[in-house]
Amino acid sequence: MKPIPTLEWRDDYLRLIDQRLLPAEEVYLDCRSIQELACAIKTLAVRGAPAIGIAAAYGAVIAAMETPESESFFDDCETLLDVLASTRPTAVNLFHCLDIQRELLFSSPSKAMAVERLLNSAHQLFEKDLEASRAMGRFGADLLPDGCTVLTHCNAGGLATAGLGTALSVIYEAHSRGILSCVFADETRPLLQGARLTSWELQKAGIKVRVLPDSAAASLLRTGTVNAVITGADRVAVNGDSANKIGTYPLALAAFEAGVPFYIAAPVSTFDSGSPDGTHIRIEERGREELAVMGNRQILPAGVEVYNPAFDVTPVRLITSIICEKGVISAPNQIEW
Ligand code: MRU
Repeated sequence: MKPIPTLEWRDDYLRLIDQRLLPAEEVYLDCRSIQELACAIKTLAVRGAPAIGIAAAYGAVIAAMETPESESFFDDCETLLDVLASTRPTAVNLFHCLDIQRELLFSSPSKAMAVERLLNSAHQLFEKDLEASRAMGRFGADLLPDGCTVLTHCNAGGLATAGLGTALSVIYEAHSRGILSCVFADETRPLLQGARLTSWELQKAGIKVRVLPDSAAASLLRTGTVNAVITGADRVAVNGDSANKIGTYPLALAAFEAGVPFYIAAPVSTFDSGSPDGTHIRIEERGREELAVMGNRQILPAGVEVYNPAFDVTPVRLITSIICEKGVISAPNQIEW
């Protein structure tokens, strides 16, 4: 199966599929400056933990190209990397990729060498992510029964990575093995990544998908129709607590209550040795307009405030297994981390 062209480096700029416009329009966005790329990440033109990381890795190349050659080249370029680091706080892949690029930048003898090395490194990170998604697909599909129905949340597919996705790579592999019956995709309020993006991706791949309101997931799970819940993650803490799109935690609670296995699929680049547990993960809070406006309609009375966290943390005790490219971590709550 061919991955969706979510990100593509073209000579001297980064081309992104503009996820804000999907599924109505398939439009590509070319980022030639750090300002353009930072805006694309902040506004979710590019989104999903691994995809944000890879975009930032290519962003480091743009930063080096954009920074004039001078005595302060390295420090000036680092300031641009900091702009990228300030876009979104939760997905750790962003910081992992920027750390790798920062180190390369400062070990380069010149601007020209920095551009060359940063580009090679970004290509390598891209390829590594592609391979990771294939491996997660294989390990994850081994956990699923024949004729399975799977429920997923948000978009953890090709649109969220350089490859086939995290949770969706498992679904694609199950489909290609002929063991997948149907996928339920939570619509994922408020930005509707499930309704707009996951259903688009799965339909394109010829996979039967049904979208449900987030609030219908718990009662669906109780019917016994769903064999497994699989989501991605934006940051996995050292003890296995995992941050993912808001609504994942209540989904895990509902799966636990219904006795349905709850799997997280995440590459090692999403594991964070700096967060001992979920309480250390910074959760992004987004703006009022995401809740106040629906289409062109104001749906909140003027002056009403909102609470709009973009992510929540699922405690490890609710996670049946974590699937990564190295294998499956079963019963992660029973491991001495
Ligand atoms: O706000 P988003 O759309 O970037 O959130 C994305 C998610 O929460 C995904 O589930 C997560 O990044 C894992 S995808 C590989």
